[in-house]
Amino acid sequence: MTQATWDAAQYLRFEDERLRPALDLIARIPHPGPARVVDLGCGAGNALPALAARFPSAAVTGVDGSAAMLARAAATGFATAQADIAAWTPAAPVDVLFSNAALHWLTGHDRLFPRLLGHLAPGGALAVQMPAMHAAPLRAEQDRIARAGPWAAALAGIASAPAILEPGDYYDLLRPRVAALDLWVTDYIHVLRGEDPVVQWAMGTSLRPYLDALEAPAREGFLAAYRAAMRAAYPPRADGAVLLPFRRMFMVARVA
Ligand SMILES: C[S@@+](CC[C@H](N)C(=O)[O-])C[C@H]1O[C@@H](n2cnc3c(N)ncnc32)[C@H](O)[C@@H]1O
Repeated sequence: MTQATWDAAQYLRFEDERLRPALDLIARIPHPGPARVVDLGCGAGNALPALAARFPSAAVTGVDGSAAMLARAAATGFATAQADIAAWTPAAPVDVLFSNAALHWLTGHDRLFPRLLGHLAPGGALAVQMPAMHAAPLRAEQDRIARAGPWAAALAGIASAPAILEPGDYYDLLRPRVAALDLWVTDYIHVLRGEDPVVQWAMGTSLRPYLDALEAPAREGFLAAYRAAMRAAYPPRADGAVLLPFRRMFMVARVA
């Protein structure tokens, strides 16, 4: 997994667009009254208030690997813990294990997801949302440009988040282990404004590992090439808005 540095301010530039799938996921969690709710990869803590509002009697804790993101999350007043999700183990079984736009950064989902199910209390739910954008220009151009320019050697070991599995793979993996499974995919059409808004969007997440590995002038060169590619792939509409189609996969698995 990649522990790139995270810039909370850049990530929060598109707070509404990034919170919406979290709210859609929270609305589908079937638990009648959890006592312990954990947000895995909570980032700046955007979803913590919504989780607390949905489950008012629960203790809600945010877990993340990034100190910069956790500092923002802690400021929301919720309990936080710094941990690598790959090795994270709760002190006691959890009723709702929630994760919005984080687990796609980890590899080995065939081992990770069953392990997370094992951390649930009886009747508990694992609720996950992950971008399914590997083939979209937003992400694919990052890898293509990384390999194509004079920065290729510096970026040899850098890759964005790996492709997640297909819906059927998650079904096969989870269904035998749970009492109920809800799987769905949503294509959001984010309406972005401002200068090169798709690049600004990517700078908050998937572009970070590449930029972190480069120094000037290669960094500016890489960014200029990516900017041109994004302008071509996502041209502005008549009113200047840029539409970013964004596919996200959701799953809610409830154990017996
Ligand atoms: C795109 S942000 C999503 C943040 C938040 N869930 C939200 O919806 O706003 C992804 C977060 O996952 C965290 N993350 C990625 N891989 C991680 C890992 N292996 N362990 C812990 N945190 C991780 C990052 O630090 C980052 O804060």
